Amino acid sequence: MSVSRNFMLIGSLYIILGVGIGIYMGGSGDRTLVPLHAHINLLGFVLPMAFGLVYHLFPAAGESLQARAHFWLHQIGALVLLVMLWLLLSGKIAEAAMFPIAPLAELCIFIGLILFALNVYRHVR
Ligand code: HEM
Ligand code: HEM
Repeated sequence: MSVSRNFMLIGSLYIILGVGIGIYMGGSGDRTLVPLHAHINLLGFVLPMAFGLVYHLFPAAGESLQARAHFWLHQIGALVLLVMLWLLLSGKIAEAAMFPIAPLAELCIFIGLILFALNVYRHVR
């Protein structure tokens, strides 16, 4: 598995969805999903593209076990968090129902970021 390619591939799918929501919001005037739009674009596309580029430019970082763990922690965490955010903003669940799944998803992303930082420290020259 190429971590850099997979980060960029999934990121490029998220941006279609995120910009699609942006176009819908612009056209309809409905701002309910602004935080979802923002985080699909940023957590789903901008960050993963940056990770993908780093892992591509520095193969020793991209081929490490940490990079694989980071990939799965980020993707699972972001997907769960974004789905929960959509459920919350569209009124399908109450804020209390975010607990404990959303904090766990945030923790996944956070641990992934620590692995990324360690990886950068070790392999980016
Ligand atoms: C064709 C593309 C896009 C359209 C039509 C669009 C549309 C919108 C609209 C209508 C809003 C709500 C603005 C408001 O009422 O305050 C918004 C907010 C936002 N968009 Fe986009 N957007 C697009 C692309 C992007 C991209 C590529 C990113 C990030 C990489 C992005 C990040 C954001 C953020 C962070 C906010 C929230 C800003 C705030 O908190 O005031 N958008 N966008
Ligand atoms: C686990 C990851 C993250 C969590 C839990 C999180 C949480 C939040 C929360 C609670 C807000 C306030 C939303 C509101 O008041 O409606 C927010 C806003 C915002 N966040 Fe994040 N965030 C995360 C990641 C990021 C990342 C990675 C970026 C940028 C690269 C980012 C950029 C923004 C921006 C631009 C806003 C203002 C846009 C808006 O009003 O929705 N966030 N975030």
